[in-house]
Amino acid sequence: MPPIDYSARIHNPDLLARITTPEAAAALIKDGMIVGMSGFTKAGDAKAVPLAMAERAKVDPFQITLITGASLGHDIDRILTEAHVLARRMPFQADPTLRQAINRGEVMFIDQHLSETVEHLRSNQLGPIDYAIVEAAAIRADGGIVPTTSIGNSASFAILAKQVIVEINLSQPLGLDGLHDVYIPTKRPAREPIPVMACNSRVGTSYVPIPPEKIAAIVITDEVDSAASVSPADADTDAIGSHLIDFLQSEVDKGRLDLTLQPLQAGIGSIANSVLRGLAKGPFHHLQMYSEVLQDSTFDLFDAGKLSFASASSITLSAPYAARVFGDFARYKDKLILRPQEISNHPEVIRRLGVIGINTALEFDIYGNVNSTHVGGTMMMNGIGGSGDFARNAYISIFVTKSLAKDGAISSVVPMVSHVDHSEHDVDILVTEVGLADLRELAPRERARAIIDNCVHPSYRDQMNDYFDRAVARGGHTPHLLEEAFSWHLRRQQTGSMHA
Ligand code: COA
Repeated sequence: MPPIDYSARIHNPDLLARITTPEAAAALIKDGMIVGMSGFTKAGDAKAVPLAMAERAKVDPFQITLITGASLGHDIDRILTEAHVLARRMPFQADPTLRQAINRGEVMFIDQHLSETVEHLRSNQLGPIDYAIVEAAAIRADGGIVPTTSIGNSASFAILAKQVIVEINLSQPLGLDGLHDVYIPTKRPAREPIPVMACNSRVGTSYVPIPPEKIAAIVITDEVDSAASVSPADADTDAIGSHLIDFLQSEVDKGRLDLTLQPLQAGIGSIANSVLRGLAKGPFHHLQMYSEVLQDSTFDLFDAGKLSFASASSITLSAPYAARVFGDFARYKDKLILRPQEISNHPEVIRRLGVIGINTALEFDIYGNVNSTHVGGTMMMNGIGGSGDFARNAYISIFVTKSLAKDGAISSVVPMVSHVDHSEHDVDILVTEVGLADLRELAPRERARAIIDNCVHPSYRDQMNDYFDRAVARGGHTPHLLEEAFSWHLRRQQTGSMHA
Protein backbone atom coordinates (compact mmCIF):
# COMPACT_ATOMS: atom_id res chain seq x y z
CA MET A 1 0.00 0.00 0.00
CA PRO A 2 1.30 3.50 -0.80
CA PRO A 3 1.92 5.64 2.30
CA ILE A 4 -1.02 7.86 3.33
CA ASP A 5 -0.53 11.49 2.35
CA TYR A 6 -0.78 13.68 5.45
CA SER A 7 0.53 16.83 3.76
CA ALA A 8 -2.84 18.62 4.14
CA ARG A 9 -2.48 18.26 7.92
CA ILE A 10 1.30 18.35 8.45
CA HIS A 11 2.79 21.19 6.43
CA ASN A 12 6.39 20.64 7.53
CA PRO A 13 7.77 17.69 5.48
CA ASP A 14 10.51 16.97 8.05
CA LEU A 15 7.85 16.26 10.67
CA LEU A 16 6.30 13.45 8.62
CA ALA A 17 9.11 11.20 9.84
CA ARG A 18 7.92 11.74 13.43
CA ILE A 19 4.58 10.04 12.82
CA THR A 20 4.44 7.03 15.08
CA THR A 21 2.05 4.72 16.93
CA PRO A 22 0.23 5.67 20.15
CA GLU A 23 2.20 2.90 21.89
CA ALA A 24 5.57 4.30 20.81
CA ALA A 25 4.51 7.81 21.87
CA ALA A 26 3.22 6.49 25.22
CA ALA A 27 6.59 4.82 25.81
CA LEU A 28 8.17 8.30 26.04
CA ILE A 29 6.24 8.95 29.26
CA LYS A 30 8.27 7.80 32.28
CA ASP A 31 7.46 7.26 35.93
CA GLY A 32 7.32 10.54 37.89
CA MET A 33 6.89 12.81 34.89
CA ILE A 34 4.62 15.85 34.75
CA VAL A 35 2.37 15.66 31.70
CA GLY A 36 0.20 18.49 30.34
CA MET A 37 -2.64 17.20 28.21
CA SER A 38 -5.14 19.00 26.00
CA GLY A 39 -8.85 18.71 26.74
CA PHE A 40 -11.46 21.00 28.21
CA THR A 41 -14.95 19.75 29.17
CA LYS A 42 -14.57 16.75 26.82
CA ALA A 43 -13.53 18.91 23.85
CA GLY A 44 -10.21 18.64 22.04
CA ASP A 45 -8.69 16.02 24.33
CA ALA A 46 -5.78 13.80 23.36
CA LYS A 47 -7.52 10.51 22.59
CA ALA A 48 -4.98 7.82 21.64
CA VAL A 49 -1.78 8.32 23.66
CA PRO A 50 -3.47 8.37 27.11
CA LEU A 51 -5.21 5.05 26.34
CA ALA A 52 -1.87 3.57 25.22
CA MET A 53 -0.36 4.86 28.49
CA ALA A 54 -3.03 3.00 30.45
CA GLU A 55 -2.39 -0.22 28.49
CA ARG A 56 1.35 0.07 29.10
CA ALA A 57 0.84 0.66 32.84
CA LYS A 58 -0.79 -2.78 33.12
CA VAL A 59 2.57 -4.44 32.36
CA ASP A 60 4.97 -1.64 33.20
CA PRO A 61 3.49 0.31 36.14
CA PHE A 62 4.25 4.03 36.27
CA GLN A 63 2.65 7.12 37.75
CA ILE A 64 2.50 10.72 36.61
CA THR A 65 1.18 14.14 37.54
CA LEU A 66 -1.51 14.90 34.96
CA ILE A 67 -2.50 18.50 34.27
CA THR A 68 -5.23 19.32 31.75
CA GLY A 69 -7.41 22.25 30.84
CA ALA A 70 -10.45 20.77 32.58
CA SER A 71 -12.43 17.51 32.37
CA LEU A 72 -11.72 14.92 29.67
CA GLY A 73 -13.90 12.79 27.40
CA HIS A 74 -13.58 9.18 26.26
CA ASP A 75 -13.46 7.93 29.87
CA ILE A 76 -9.78 8.83 29.87
CA ASP A 77 -9.76 9.83 33.55
CA ARG A 78 -11.52 6.57 34.45
CA ILE A 79 -9.15 4.44 32.38
CA LEU A 80 -6.02 6.17 33.71
CA THR A 81 -7.37 5.85 37.28
CA GLU A 82 -8.09 2.14 36.87
CA ALA A 83 -4.58 1.64 35.49
CA HIS A 84 -3.18 3.52 38.55
CA VAL A 85 -1.35 5.98 36.29
CA LEU A 86 -2.47 9.10 38.18
CA ALA A 87 -0.44 10.09 41.24
CA ARG A 88 -1.48 13.74 41.09
CA ARG A 89 -4.21 15.40 39.01
CA MET A 90 -5.12 19.06 38.44
CA PRO A 91 -6.93 21.44 37.95
CA PHE A 92 -10.44 19.92 37.35
CA GLN A 93 -12.13 16.58 36.68
CA ALA A 94 -15.67 15.29 36.43
CA ASP A 95 -15.23 11.52 36.31
CA PRO A 96 -17.02 9.26 38.85
CA THR A 97 -14.18 6.68 39.08
CA LEU A 98 -11.47 9.31 39.50
CA ARG A 99 -13.72 11.14 41.99
CA GLN A 100 -13.86 8.00 44.14
CA ALA A 101 -10.07 7.53 43.97
CA ILE A 102 -9.63 11.18 44.98
CA ASN A 103 -12.03 10.74 47.90
CA ARG A 104 -10.23 7.54 49.01
CA GLY A 105 -7.03 9.61 49.09
CA GLU A 106 -5.37 7.55 46.33
CA VAL A 107 -5.02 10.37 43.79
CA MET A 108 -3.83 13.74 45.07
CA PHE A 109 -6.19 16.20 43.38
CA ILE A 110 -5.38 19.90 43.33
CA ASP A 111 -8.62 21.80 42.78
CA GLN A 112 -7.57 25.06 41.16
CA HIS A 113 -9.03 28.21 39.59
CA LEU A 114 -8.80 27.40 35.90
CA SER A 115 -7.15 30.72 35.05
CA GLU A 116 -4.26 30.09 37.44
CA THR A 117 -2.64 26.78 36.50
CA VAL A 118 -0.39 28.11 33.75
CA GLU A 119 0.60 31.11 35.88
CA HIS A 120 1.99 28.55 38.36
CA LEU A 121 3.85 26.84 35.51
CA ARG A 122 5.18 30.08 34.09
CA SER A 123 6.56 31.16 37.46
CA ASN A 124 8.08 27.71 38.21
CA GLN A 125 5.86 27.09 41.23
CA LEU A 126 4.79 24.00 39.31
CA GLY A 127 6.61 22.02 36.69
CA PRO A 128 8.48 21.89 34.48
CA ILE A 129 6.22 19.91 32.16
CA ASP A 130 8.08 16.95 30.71
CA TYR A 131 5.66 16.26 27.88
CA ALA A 132 2.69 18.13 26.49
CA ILE A 133 0.26 15.83 24.64
CA VAL A 134 -2.04 17.96 22.52
CA GLU A 135 -4.66 17.32 19.89
CA ALA A 136 -4.32 19.34 16.68
CA ALA A 137 -6.20 19.79 13.43
CA ALA A 138 -2.92 20.55 11.66
CA ILE A 139 0.76 21.45 12.13
CA ARG A 140 2.04 24.45 10.20
CA ALA A 141 5.31 24.54 8.27
CA ASP A 142 6.89 26.57 11.11
CA GLY A 143 5.84 23.96 13.71
CA GLY A 144 2.83 25.97 14.92
CA ILE A 145 -0.03 23.83 16.18
CA VAL A 146 -3.60 24.47 15.04
CA PRO A 147 -5.79 23.37 17.97
CA THR A 148 -9.19 21.73 17.63
CA THR A 149 -12.40 22.22 19.64
CA SER A 150 -10.70 23.57 22.76
CA ILE A 151 -7.53 25.38 23.72
CA GLY A 152 -7.69 25.14 27.49
CA ASN A 153 -4.09 25.15 28.76
CA SER A 154 -2.64 23.50 25.63
CA ALA A 155 -0.82 26.55 24.31
CA SER A 156 1.19 27.14 27.48
CA PHE A 157 1.70 23.40 27.98
CA ALA A 158 3.27 23.15 24.52
CA ILE A 159 5.29 26.35 24.91
CA LEU A 160 6.59 25.48 28.41
CA ALA A 161 7.05 21.68 28.00
CA LYS A 162 10.41 20.11 27.30
CA GLN A 163 8.84 18.17 24.41
CA VAL A 164 5.49 17.85 22.69
CA ILE A 165 3.50 14.88 21.38
CA VAL A 166 0.86 15.94 18.85
CA GLU A 167 -2.25 13.93 18.04
CA ILE A 168 -3.46 14.94 14.58
CA ASN A 169 -7.19 14.20 14.60
CA LEU A 170 -8.48 13.66 11.07
CA SER A 171 -12.10 13.88 12.25
CA GLN A 172 -11.62 17.50 13.28
CA PRO A 173 -12.38 19.77 10.31
CA LEU A 174 -9.56 21.82 8.79
CA GLY A 175 -12.05 24.68 8.85
CA LEU A 176 -11.16 25.08 12.56
CA ASP A 177 -7.98 26.86 11.40
CA GLY A 178 -8.47 30.55 12.19
CA LEU A 179 -10.96 30.00 15.02
CA HIS A 180 -8.40 30.35 17.82
CA ASP A 181 -6.70 33.38 19.32
CA VAL A 182 -3.57 32.42 21.24
CA TYR A 183 -2.33 35.25 23.44
CA ILE A 184 0.25 34.47 26.11
CA PRO A 185 0.68 37.08 28.89
CA THR A 186 4.18 38.42 29.40
CA LYS A 187 6.16 37.70 32.57
CA ARG A 188 5.32 39.49 35.81
CA PRO A 189 5.87 41.96 37.40
CA ALA A 190 6.31 44.01 34.20
CA ARG A 191 3.30 42.49 32.47
CA GLU A 192 1.45 44.49 29.83
CA PRO A 193 -2.34 44.83 30.12
CA ILE A 194 -4.22 41.92 28.51
CA PRO A 195 -5.38 43.69 25.32
CA VAL A 196 -8.81 42.03 25.04
CA MET A 197 -11.14 45.05 24.91
CA ALA A 198 -14.26 43.28 23.64
CA CYS A 199 -15.59 39.74 23.21
CA ASN A 200 -14.47 39.76 19.59
CA SER A 201 -10.96 41.21 20.14
CA ARG A 202 -8.31 39.21 18.32
CA VAL A 203 -5.00 39.82 20.02
CA GLY A 204 -2.78 36.81 19.33
CA THR A 205 -1.98 34.12 16.78
CA SER A 206 -4.41 31.57 15.35
CA TYR A 207 -1.97 28.76 16.29
CA VAL A 208 0.29 27.70 19.17
CA PRO A 209 3.75 28.96 18.24
CA ILE A 210 6.35 26.26 18.91
CA PRO A 211 9.44 25.32 16.89
CA PRO A 212 9.20 22.04 14.94
CA GLU A 213 12.22 20.62 16.82
CA LYS A 214 10.11 20.45 19.96
CA ILE A 215 7.71 17.94 18.46
CA ALA A 216 8.94 14.53 19.61
CA ALA A 217 6.18 12.40 18.10
CA ILE A 218 3.03 12.69 16.01
CA VAL A 219 0.13 10.25 16.31
CA ILE A 220 -2.77 10.12 13.86
CA THR A 221 -6.32 9.64 15.23
CA ASP A 222 -9.81 10.02 13.83
CA GLU A 223 -12.07 9.74 16.87
CA VAL A 224 -14.67 12.49 17.40
CA ASP A 225 -15.02 14.36 20.71
CA SER A 226 -17.20 12.66 23.32
CA ALA A 227 -20.71 14.09 23.28
CA ALA A 228 -21.76 16.48 26.05
CA SER A 229 -23.96 14.72 28.57
CA VAL A 230 -26.23 17.42 29.91
CA SER A 231 -29.37 16.26 31.68
CA PRO A 232 -32.54 17.47 29.97
CA ALA A 233 -34.37 20.55 31.18
CA ASP A 234 -37.17 19.96 33.71
CA ALA A 235 -39.77 22.10 35.48
CA ASP A 236 -37.19 23.25 38.08
CA THR A 237 -34.49 24.29 35.59
CA ASP A 238 -37.18 26.06 33.53
CA ALA A 239 -38.36 27.90 36.65
CA ILE A 240 -34.78 28.95 37.51
CA GLY A 241 -34.32 30.16 33.93
CA SER A 242 -37.51 32.15 34.04
CA HIS A 243 -36.66 33.83 37.41
CA LEU A 244 -33.33 34.86 35.93
CA ILE A 245 -34.85 36.23 32.77
CA ASP A 246 -37.37 38.26 34.83
CA PHE A 247 -34.44 39.60 36.85
CA LEU A 248 -32.48 40.63 33.76
CA GLN A 249 -35.60 42.30 32.34
CA SER A 250 -36.05 44.21 35.62
CA GLU A 251 -32.42 45.40 35.41
CA VAL A 252 -33.25 46.73 31.93
CA ASP A 253 -36.42 48.41 33.26
CA LYS A 254 -34.34 50.12 35.95
CA GLY A 255 -31.88 51.41 33.32
CA ARG A 256 -28.92 49.40 34.64
CA LEU A 257 -28.65 47.29 31.49
CA ASP A 258 -30.00 47.64 27.98
CA LEU A 259 -31.56 44.82 25.98
CA THR A 260 -28.13 43.71 24.73
CA LEU A 261 -27.25 43.04 28.41
CA GLN A 262 -23.50 42.63 29.06
CA PRO A 263 -21.29 39.72 28.02
CA LEU A 264 -22.65 36.49 29.47
CA GLN A 265 -20.78 33.61 31.07
CA ALA A 266 -22.68 30.42 31.76
CA GLY A 267 -21.30 27.36 33.52
CA ILE A 268 -21.85 23.98 31.94
CA GLY A 269 -25.02 22.07 32.76
CA SER A 270 -28.75 21.91 32.26
CA ILE A 271 -29.60 25.07 34.19
CA ALA A 272 -27.23 27.21 32.14
CA ASN A 273 -28.65 25.67 28.97
CA SER A 274 -32.19 26.50 30.15
CA VAL A 275 -31.30 30.11 30.93
CA LEU A 276 -29.65 30.67 27.57
CA ARG A 277 -32.54 29.02 25.73
CA GLY A 278 -34.93 31.27 27.68
CA LEU A 279 -32.99 34.31 26.46
CA ALA A 280 -33.76 33.24 22.90
CA LYS A 281 -37.48 33.75 23.61
CA GLY A 282 -37.15 37.07 25.46
CA PRO A 283 -36.82 40.64 24.16
CA PHE A 284 -33.01 40.64 24.41
CA HIS A 285 -30.93 41.01 21.26
CA HIS A 286 -27.33 41.38 20.03
CA LEU A 287 -26.19 39.37 23.04
CA GLN A 288 -22.53 38.44 23.48
CA MET A 289 -20.82 35.70 25.46
CA TYR A 290 -17.45 35.89 27.20
CA SER A 291 -17.48 32.43 28.68
CA GLU A 292 -15.50 29.29 29.25
CA VAL A 293 -17.51 26.61 27.47
CA LEU A 294 -19.99 26.99 24.62
CA GLN A 295 -22.82 24.47 24.81
CA ASP A 296 -25.76 23.60 22.51
CA SER A 297 -27.74 26.61 23.72
CA THR A 298 -25.11 29.03 22.34
CA PHE A 299 -25.88 27.77 18.85
CA ASP A 300 -29.64 27.99 19.47
CA LEU A 301 -29.08 31.65 20.34
CA PHE A 302 -27.07 32.18 17.15
CA ASP A 303 -29.77 30.46 15.09
CA ALA A 304 -32.49 32.57 16.76
CA GLY A 305 -30.57 35.68 15.68
CA LYS A 306 -30.15 36.76 19.33
CA LEU A 307 -26.40 36.25 19.78
CA SER A 308 -23.87 38.25 17.83
CA PHE A 309 -20.57 36.89 19.21
CA ALA A 310 -19.23 34.21 21.55
CA SER A 311 -15.73 33.89 23.02
CA ALA A 312 -14.73 30.87 25.13
CA SER A 313 -12.08 28.19 25.58
CA SER A 314 -14.00 25.19 24.26
CA ILE A 315 -17.04 24.05 22.29
CA THR A 316 -18.75 21.07 23.96
CA LEU A 317 -21.83 19.83 22.15
CA SER A 318 -24.29 16.96 22.17
CA ALA A 319 -23.94 14.57 19.20
CA PRO A 320 -26.74 16.12 17.06
CA TYR A 321 -25.46 19.66 17.67
CA ALA A 322 -21.86 18.63 16.93
CA ALA A 323 -22.99 17.21 13.58
CA ARG A 324 -24.97 20.37 12.84
CA VAL A 325 -22.35 22.91 13.94
CA PHE A 326 -19.17 21.25 12.66
CA GLY A 327 -20.96 20.04 9.52
CA ASP A 328 -21.54 23.68 8.53
CA PHE A 329 -18.88 25.46 10.55
CA ALA A 330 -18.41 28.34 8.11
CA ARG A 331 -21.86 29.54 9.17
CA TYR A 332 -20.63 30.25 12.72
CA LYS A 333 -16.86 30.69 12.47
CA ASP A 334 -16.70 34.48 12.13
CA LYS A 335 -18.84 34.85 15.27
CA LEU A 336 -16.58 32.70 17.46
CA ILE A 337 -13.17 32.84 19.15
CA LEU A 338 -11.55 30.14 21.27
CA ARG A 339 -8.91 31.46 23.69
CA PRO A 340 -6.50 29.92 26.22
CA GLN A 341 -8.42 29.43 29.47
CA GLU A 342 -6.25 31.92 31.32
CA ILE A 343 -7.59 34.57 28.90
CA SER A 344 -11.23 33.35 28.68
CA ASN A 345 -11.20 33.36 32.49
CA HIS A 346 -8.86 36.29 33.09
CA PRO A 347 -9.90 38.44 36.07
CA GLU A 348 -8.72 41.62 34.32
CA VAL A 349 -10.83 40.97 31.20
CA ILE A 350 -13.90 39.74 33.10
CA ARG A 351 -13.87 42.91 35.21
CA ARG A 352 -13.21 45.14 32.19
CA LEU A 353 -16.04 43.69 30.10
CA GLY A 354 -18.55 43.62 32.98
CA VAL A 355 -19.42 39.97 32.52
CA ILE A 356 -22.68 38.59 33.93
CA GLY A 357 -21.55 35.28 35.42
CA ILE A 358 -23.99 32.40 35.96
CA ASN A 359 -22.64 29.34 37.81
CA THR A 360 -24.06 26.39 39.70
CA ALA A 361 -23.86 25.75 43.44
CA LEU A 362 -24.15 22.44 45.28
CA GLU A 363 -25.38 24.38 48.31
CA PHE A 364 -25.42 27.92 49.66
CA ASP A 365 -26.09 29.32 53.09
CA ILE A 366 -28.38 31.97 54.52
CA TYR A 367 -25.67 34.65 54.17
CA GLY A 368 -24.74 33.80 50.57
CA ASN A 369 -21.60 31.68 50.91
CA VAL A 370 -21.49 29.05 48.16
CA ASN A 371 -20.17 25.49 48.09
CA SER A 372 -19.67 24.24 44.52
CA THR A 373 -17.36 21.34 45.18
CA HIS A 374 -17.58 19.31 48.40
CA VAL A 375 -20.57 17.16 49.36
CA GLY A 376 -20.92 17.24 53.13
CA GLY A 377 -17.80 19.42 53.28
CA THR A 378 -15.54 16.44 52.58
CA MET A 379 -16.29 14.54 49.36
CA MET A 380 -15.01 16.16 46.16
CA MET A 381 -17.55 16.37 43.36
CA ASN A 382 -15.75 17.95 40.35
CA GLY A 383 -13.80 21.04 41.35
CA ILE A 384 -14.21 24.81 41.37
CA GLY A 385 -13.46 25.02 37.65
CA GLY A 386 -13.79 28.54 36.33
CA SER A 387 -16.62 29.52 38.64
CA GLY A 388 -14.30 31.42 41.00
CA ASP A 389 -12.54 33.25 38.17
CA PHE A 390 -15.91 34.61 37.08
CA ALA A 391 -17.70 35.00 40.43
CA ARG A 392 -15.04 37.21 42.01
CA ASN A 393 -14.73 39.50 39.00
CA ALA A 394 -18.18 39.53 37.39
CA TYR A 395 -20.35 42.64 37.12
CA ILE A 396 -23.20 40.52 38.45
CA SER A 397 -22.27 37.17 40.01
CA ILE A 398 -25.19 34.74 39.94
CA PHE A 399 -25.40 31.25 41.46
CA VAL A 400 -28.21 28.83 40.67
CA THR A 401 -29.25 25.49 42.13
CA LYS A 402 -32.39 23.46 42.75
CA SER A 403 -33.62 24.05 46.31
CA LEU A 404 -33.65 20.31 47.04
CA ALA A 405 -31.35 17.39 46.25
CA LYS A 406 -31.75 13.63 46.66
CA ASP A 407 -35.56 13.66 46.52
CA GLY A 408 -35.85 16.30 49.20
CA ALA A 409 -33.56 14.64 51.75
CA ILE A 410 -31.11 17.52 51.24
CA SER A 411 -31.87 21.23 51.33
CA SER A 412 -29.47 23.08 49.03
CA VAL A 413 -29.89 26.09 51.30
CA VAL A 414 -28.33 25.43 54.71
CA PRO A 415 -27.55 27.49 57.82
CA MET A 416 -23.79 27.36 57.09
CA VAL A 417 -22.14 25.80 54.04
CA SER A 418 -19.94 22.81 54.84
CA HIS A 419 -17.20 24.10 52.48
CA VAL A 420 -16.70 27.59 51.01
CA ASP A 421 -15.73 28.07 47.38
CA HIS A 422 -17.30 31.50 46.87
CA SER A 423 -17.63 33.72 49.87
CA GLU A 424 -20.61 36.01 50.47
CA HIS A 425 -18.48 38.87 49.07
CA ASP A 426 -18.44 37.29 45.61
CA VAL A 427 -22.14 36.45 45.34
CA ASP A 428 -24.77 38.94 44.15
CA ILE A 429 -27.78 36.88 43.12
CA LEU A 430 -28.99 33.44 44.24
CA VAL A 431 -31.69 31.55 42.37
CA THR A 432 -33.58 28.33 43.00
CA GLU A 433 -36.80 27.18 41.38
CA VAL A 434 -38.57 28.79 44.36
CA GLY A 435 -37.37 32.29 43.49
CA LEU A 436 -34.51 34.78 43.31
CA ALA A 437 -32.69 36.63 46.09
CA ASP A 438 -30.97 39.87 45.09
CA LEU A 439 -28.25 40.30 47.73
CA ARG A 440 -26.64 43.42 46.34
CA GLU A 441 -26.13 46.15 48.95
CA LEU A 442 -27.77 44.08 51.69
CA ALA A 443 -26.31 43.54 55.16
CA PRO A 444 -26.03 39.93 56.42
CA ARG A 445 -29.34 39.92 58.32
CA GLU A 446 -31.10 41.35 55.26
CA ARG A 447 -29.39 38.81 53.01
CA ALA A 448 -30.62 35.97 55.22
CA ARG A 449 -34.19 37.28 55.06
CA ALA A 450 -34.05 37.55 51.25
CA ILE A 451 -32.58 34.06 50.88
CA ILE A 452 -34.97 32.36 53.30
CA ASP A 453 -38.04 34.05 51.82
CA ASN A 454 -37.09 33.55 48.17
CA CYS A 455 -34.87 30.48 47.80
CA VAL A 456 -35.52 27.94 50.57
CA HIS A 457 -37.92 25.12 49.68
CA PRO A 458 -41.23 25.45 51.60
CA SER A 459 -40.63 22.06 53.27
CA TYR A 460 -37.51 23.49 54.99
CA ARG A 461 -38.63 27.10 55.51
CA ASP A 462 -40.03 26.83 59.06
CA GLN A 463 -36.92 24.94 60.14
CA MET A 464 -34.71 27.67 58.65
CA ASN A 465 -36.73 30.52 60.15
CA ASP A 466 -36.45 28.82 63.53
CA TYR A 467 -32.64 28.62 63.19
CA PHE A 468 -32.34 32.23 62.01
CA ASP A 469 -34.70 33.68 64.66
CA ARG A 470 -32.82 31.98 67.50
CA ALA A 471 -29.47 33.06 66.01
CA VAL A 472 -30.67 36.67 65.74
CA ALA A 473 -31.85 36.55 69.37
CA ARG A 474 -28.28 35.72 70.38
CA GLY A 475 -26.95 38.69 68.35
CA GLY A 476 -24.07 39.41 66.01
CA HIS A 477 -23.47 41.03 62.64
CA THR A 478 -23.80 37.61 60.98
CA PRO A 479 -25.85 35.70 63.56
CA HIS A 480 -25.13 31.98 63.95
CA LEU A 481 -25.60 29.23 66.50
CA LEU A 482 -22.20 27.59 66.18
CA GLU A 483 -23.31 24.43 67.97
CA GLU A 484 -26.08 24.00 65.35
CA ALA A 485 -24.57 25.52 62.22
CA PHE A 486 -23.70 22.10 60.73
CA SER A 487 -26.58 20.23 62.39
CA TRP A 488 -28.42 19.87 59.07
CA HIS A 489 -25.41 18.11 57.52
CA LEU A 490 -24.98 15.92 60.61
CA ARG A 491 -28.65 14.96 60.54
CA ARG A 492 -28.30 14.00 56.87
CA GLN A 493 -25.32 11.76 57.83
CA GLN A 494 -27.10 10.21 60.80
CA THR A 495 -30.70 9.88 59.57
CA GLY A 496 -30.42 10.24 55.78
CA SER A 497 -32.37 13.51 55.76
CA MET A 498 -31.84 17.14 56.75
CA HIS A 499 -35.45 17.35 57.95
CA ALA A 500 -35.69 17.85 61.72
N1 COA B 1 -25.63 17.90 48.47
C1 COA B 1 -25.30 16.69 47.96
N2 COA B 1 -25.43 16.38 46.66
C2 COA B 1 -25.95 17.32 45.85
C3 COA B 1 -26.33 18.58 46.31
C4 COA B 1 -26.15 18.85 47.69
N3 COA B 1 -26.48 20.04 48.20
N4 COA B 1 -26.82 19.29 45.27
C5 COA B 1 -26.73 18.51 44.20
N5 COA B 1 -26.21 17.31 44.53
C6 COA B 1 -25.94 16.18 43.66
C7 COA B 1 -27.11 15.86 42.76
O1 COA B 1 -28.04 15.03 43.43
C8 COA B 1 -26.40 15.14 41.62
O2 COA B 1 -26.10 13.83 42.05
P1 COA B 1 -26.11 12.58 41.04
O3 COA B 1 -24.97 12.84 40.10
O4 COA B 1 -25.89 11.42 41.94
O5 COA B 1 -27.46 12.64 40.39
C9 COA B 1 -25.08 15.89 41.50
O6 COA B 1 -24.89 16.57 42.76
C10 COA B 1 -25.08 16.95 40.39
O7 COA B 1 -26.13 17.86 40.62
P2 COA B 1 -27.08 18.42 39.49
O8 COA B 1 -28.26 19.03 40.18
O9 COA B 1 -27.34 17.35 38.48
O10 COA B 1 -26.30 19.65 38.88
P3 COA B 1 -25.09 19.78 37.86
O11 COA B 1 -24.87 18.57 37.03
O12 COA B 1 -25.33 21.06 37.18
O13 COA B 1 -23.81 19.91 38.81
C11 COA B 1 -22.27 21.05 40.21
C12 COA B 1 -23.75 20.84 39.81
C13 COA B 1 -22.20 22.12 41.27
C14 COA B 1 -21.69 19.73 40.75
C15 COA B 1 -21.48 21.46 38.92
O14 COA B 1 -22.10 22.57 38.34
C16 COA B 1 -20.04 21.79 39.22
O15 COA B 1 -19.19 20.90 39.29
N6 COA B 1 -19.72 23.09 39.42
C17 COA B 1 -18.38 23.52 39.76
C18 COA B 1 -17.60 23.89 38.53
C19 COA B 1 -18.18 25.08 37.84
O16 COA B 1 -19.02 25.79 38.35
N7 COA B 1 -17.75 25.36 36.65
C20 COA B 1 -18.27 26.55 35.97
C21 COA B 1 -17.65 26.87 34.80
S1 COA B 1 -18.03 25.61 33.53
